Amino acid sequence: MSRIAYVNGHYRNLRDACVNIEDRGYQFSDGVYEVCEIRDGRLVDMPRHMARLQRSLGELRIAMPMPLSALSVVMREVVRRNRVGYGIVYLQITRGVARRDHAFPPDAVRPGVVVTARSLSRARNEATAARGIAVITVPENRWPRVDIKSVSLLPNVLAKQAARDRGAYEAWYVDGDGLVTEGSSSNAWIVTRQGSVVTRSARSGILSGITRSVLIEVMEALQVRFEERPFSPAEARDAAEAFVTSASQIVMPVVSVDGQPIGDGMPGEISRRLRQEFHRFSTFS
Ligand code: PDD
Repeated sequence: MSRIAYVNGHYRNLRDACVNIEDRGYQFSDGVYEVCEIRDGRLVDMPRHMARLQRSLGELRIAMPMPLSALSVVMREVVRRNRVGYGIVYLQITRGVARRDHAFPPDAVRPGVVVTARSLSRARNEATAARGIAVITVPENRWPRVDIKSVSLLPNVLAKQAARDRGAYEAWYVDGDGLVTEGSSSNAWIVTRQGSVVTRSARSGILSGITRSVLIEVMEALQVRFEERPFSPAEARDAAEAFVTSASQIVMPVVSVDGQPIGDGMPGEISRRLRQEFHRFSTFS
């Protein structure tokens, strides 16, 4: 079955789908994106993703290309046409097509919209979660506006590749104060030996993850102790458990940091429980 993408008003076969070479997303990374999980053919936590999308667009002064309700219809239609039961849907909005010039183009330039969806192997994801992943640390080298979900991801690409080159799955950024900010495509968490789940505040240095925000509510409901504060790589290496969160991985246990096993080197009990319980607290649309 050929994959279908939505590109600026049209549903196209992926091999025929294209955008103008003067799209500002292509020339300046001038755009934003969202990734939503798909489960049983439905979009997970869409209202929160749409709220973050609107915020990212607002921060960059890019106009909403269509009403939110229409955007949701397009995203669901791309999921349906690609027959994705379990996977992800990707939405990208750029400032549009204009002759190359750094300053914003005239208001008449319409934002570019691309939506794709793809199936993931649930069995493979569960197998990865059962084993847990390795993480390395890298120096923070991104711009300070990581709260905006921008398509400008070169430092993230390099960090992820550094992880791969060292046989790991994710890289955690460490800021100038020696504290972990987040992963190259996920939020970072530890569980202390006293059983407290710890993650950095979304007020600085990280993207406010949707999975992160839902998980905080999950922990409240399950009465899991939670502290919102930064932690260092040394504290992580000494922690009982660690995990990362993102729309594509939900709660993914971390079993080593910079080659040092976390806890007994196996996914921890609290991480496993939070992964299992997570979708009881999600919305589906
Ligand atoms: N990444 N931090 C960064 C830098 C991210 O890129 C992501 C998501 C997150 C987690 O956010 P959420 O829980 O809303 O997915 C945190 C997506 C999945 C990606 O780039 O593919």
